[in-house]
This record gives sequence, C-alpha cells and structure tokens, in this order.
Amino acid sequence: MTKLIVANWKMNKNAKACFEFFDTFNAKYSSKREAWIAPQSIHLNLVINQGMKANVKAGLQNCSDHTSGAFTGEISPVNAKELGTHFVILGHSERREIFKETSKTIAAKVKTAHQSDLKVIFCLGETLAERESGMTETVLKDQLNQGLSDQSLATADNLVVAYEPIWAIGTGKTATPAMAQEAHAFIRSILKDKFPGFGEKVRLLYGGSVKPDNVEELLAQKDIDGGLVGGASLKANDFLALCGDK
Ligand code: PGA
Repeated sequence: MTKLIVANWKMNKNAKACFEFFDTFNAKYSSKREAWIAPQSIHLNLVINQGMKANVKAGLQNCSDHTSGAFTGEISPVNAKELGTHFVILGHSERREIFKETSKTIAAKVKTAHQSDLKVIFCLGETLAERESGMTETVLKDQLNQGLSDQSLATADNLVVAYEPIWAIGTGKTATPAMAQEAHAFIRSILKDKFPGFGEKVRLLYGGSVKPDNVEELLAQKDIDGGLVGGASLKANDFLALCGDK
C-alpha cells in the first residue's frame, strides 16, 4: 500500500508563503508517497491549483454538518467538493478541545462529508492523563464508536483514521514506534469489527510531532499507513523528506 502523508497547515501561511512552498515542493516531489495538504480554507483554491501540477490533493481542516443554509461562517462540504476538494479532516483534537466539538457533531459531519463525496480523515487520541491512568483503549474505542456511529456510507477508500495522542501534538514528544503500533493495532481490530469486509483496509495515519528524523521508523510499523503532520509540514523541504523525497 502506498503510504499517505497529510499536511495539516492549521492557521498558518499567507498566500505568498503557499506559492513559495509549491515552487520548491513541486520541483522535487516524486509521488513515491501520496501527499495531501489541508491549508486554511481561504487558500483552498490556491492549493487545489498549485497541487494539481504535482498530483497533490487539497482538503479542508473542518466543514459543516449541513450542505447549505443559514450557518454563518461555516463551509459547505458539497460546495468544497465542486471546487475540487479531495478530503476533510474531522474530529481533530484542536476542534474537540478549543471549539468544543462533540462526538455527536463529528459523527454528523462525517456523514455529510461522505454524502458530499469527500474523503474523511477521522482523528482520535487520548490525553496524557488518560494514558497514564490506563484509559487509552477505552477512550479510543469510545471515540471510534461515537464519532463513526451510523456510517453506512464509509468505505475503505473514503475513510482514513488518524491516531493522534494529544500529548504528542505540537509538543515535540512523539509516541515511540512501539506505542504507536500498539494503538494502531487496537484501532485496526475495532475497525475490523465495525466495518466487516473492509475495516482492515482503512488507512491508519499516525500524528503527533512527526518529523523527517522519526518518520521512517514510524512508517516501518505494520499498522502505520502514513502520517498526519502539522509543524513539520510547513517547510517544503521537510515535507518533501516526509514524502520520501530528500
Ligand atoms: P504536529 O501536529 O505534527 O505539529 O504535532 C499534528 C496535528 O495536529 O495534526
């Protein structure tokens, strides 16, 4: 399976910095690993057009659970799809913590995104306190069951799951490859039960301080199919290294 590296640019980069990124990235990207980029939504069109030149797919960092209507400030997944958007990241811990998104809302967004023909990267992960009190598996299971409840439209092709231990996001602390593999194997076993027939084929990404110097050992783990990367995806040369193009 080709590994998938997803850049989550969060609320970073102005338009000029986006163009500069593609000037460097497109010149060297080999497609050895799949590369997807989620910029701020104001730069979506720019990233769709620049990314197209090197077969890089663009996506959203969030979307509405409705397709149209009186929802000031929201982004319609169906309109994003028409623009050429490939995917949406849903359930990121920053959305859950800062914007108080509940599993119920996230489940509704996953459904609407799938109805709109967007691929979904569904994020989940435990806090440090939950890990230290031995709750990791319970938390992951609950997040999967609640966030992916009633997902009759999910397929191996339109669903990607990203395990992001919250204590590793933006902190420089990475889960060891063994810790990440253990969590991924557990998530894989739940997905197999939940989606008989294709659960074992859903791509599982690891996220949380992935960098050029730890990516290879993470990707070498049996159940790690790629990475969801914040900080290290912002520099074109680092993102190239993550994509296997040094
Ligand atoms: P990080 O962010 O790579 O900066 O830890 C990962 C994420 O939030 O998806």
